[in-house]
Amino acid sequence: MYNVVFVLGPPGSGKGTICAQIQENLGYVHLSAGDLLRAEREREGSQFGALIEGHIKNGSIVPVEITCSLLENAMIANKEANGFLVDGFPRNEDNLSGWKKQMGGKVNEQFVLFLSCPVDVCIDRCLHRGQGRTDDNVESLKKRVETYNQQTFPIIEQYEKHGMVREVNSQRPISEVYQDVVEVFSAANQK
Ligand code: C5P
Ligand code: MG
Repeated sequence: MYNVVFVLGPPGSGKGTICAQIQENLGYVHLSAGDLLRAEREREGSQFGALIEGHIKNGSIVPVEITCSLLENAMIANKEANGFLVDGFPRNEDNLSGWKKQMGGKVNEQFVLFLSCPVDVCIDRCLHRGQGRTDDNVESLKKRVETYNQQTFPIIEQYEKHGMVREVNSQRPISEVYQDVVEVFSAANQK
């Protein structure tokens, strides 16, 4: 059974940056739901390209059937992994229920890594990261933050009730954030 760690936090909270470091040092494979959706958007012959771009620009959430299949395919393609960092998922109730339906019983959910960072800092980071994303602009960011507050944060709260959330303050320099993250993973994998 695959080990899975969900990584959540506002846009620009450093999910991708921290996941890249965990992947490099701890043997987990990083699966970013957003990156997988962007790759599917670019894939020639995809029937979902326009639909995905519409949601990305709008900061709204793509139907789970699409996202979850991309995640499961990526997991199947990386069978040798110690575990998976599922970054940017589950983002809303639809993501959560679709995941349970498709993946329930196939994975061991270890915990939710919650990177917390004030929203104004996050927005500023997104506006200056220069990744050429179609959604790193003031208008899209407003909508992404709204989606985060209204739909994603309640999912984090649900996991919190089950004692599954490990919160790390990601407003600090990356090396400090990463140190705390390593401790979270050590504690979880000692069990
Ligand atoms: O995580 P990231 O910021 O890369 O996500 C970019 C966009 O991809 C989101 O704003 C959303 O439109 C889409 N997305 C989604 N469902 C997810 C993750 C991302 O629809 N689970
Ligand atoms: Mg990301």
